[in-house]
Amino acid sequence: MAIVAPSILSANFNNLLAEVKSVSSAEFLHIDVMDGHFVPNISIGALVYKHLKAEVDMVMDVHLMIADPVKYAKDFVEAGADYLTFHYEAVSDVLGTIKYIKSLGVKVGISIKPNTKVEVLDEYLNELDLILVMSVEPGFGGQKFIETSLAKIEYLRKQRDENDYLYLIEVDGGINLETGKLAVDAGVDILVAGTSIFKSKNREKIIKELKDL
Ligand code: DX5
Ligand code: ZN
Repeated sequence: MAIVAPSILSANFNNLLAEVKSVSSAEFLHIDVMDGHFVPNISIGALVYKHLKAEVDMVMDVHLMIADPVKYAKDFVEAGADYLTFHYEAVSDVLGTIKYIKSLGVKVGISIKPNTKVEVLDEYLNELDLILVMSVEPGFGGQKFIETSLAKIEYLRKQRDENDYLYLIEVDGGINLETGKLAVDAGVDILVAGTSIFKSKNREKIIKELKDL
């Protein structure tokens, strides 16, 4: 069984609460924060999901694609993040950032872009609650899954099995029933999916199918 995390980037923001409720059979809600610096797109900030937390019983999975995660981490925690994930490529002090986010009382995640080698995370594996493998270049929904991310998932799964690490492995970008199956077979725990869920005529059905992969 996979955990499914619908990405609200693909939702209709005219009616965000109804959109989120329509995918609330999933366990996690994936929230993409983009600043126009770290990635060439601007999305939403903490204010947008702050009031969702009280309305749905979902784990708030916040993916920060921003240049200065430390500066804003507290705001995202106060708005209700359960998992707060920053990008390896965005910070110079990785361990300091992990420790700081943990000190705020939430689970900490780290994400790597498609061109970042997974081994750069070796020295932090013991400290992490979640590792997010990007399977597209971060910044936009609706892109094609990059298959080299599968080897990263396999590597992280092997490291976890051999060393009893505790992190969850998440994949994000281009996930549908076909690529989701490849990721699950590689050992992933959490499937983020934007387009394939929100563009589906039957959202509950596809969530169930992704869970059952
Ligand atoms: C991309 C975001 C993703 C995006 C995924 O930078 O991190 O979460 O919403 O969208 P799909 O599932 O359409 O690739
Ligand atoms: Zn994301």
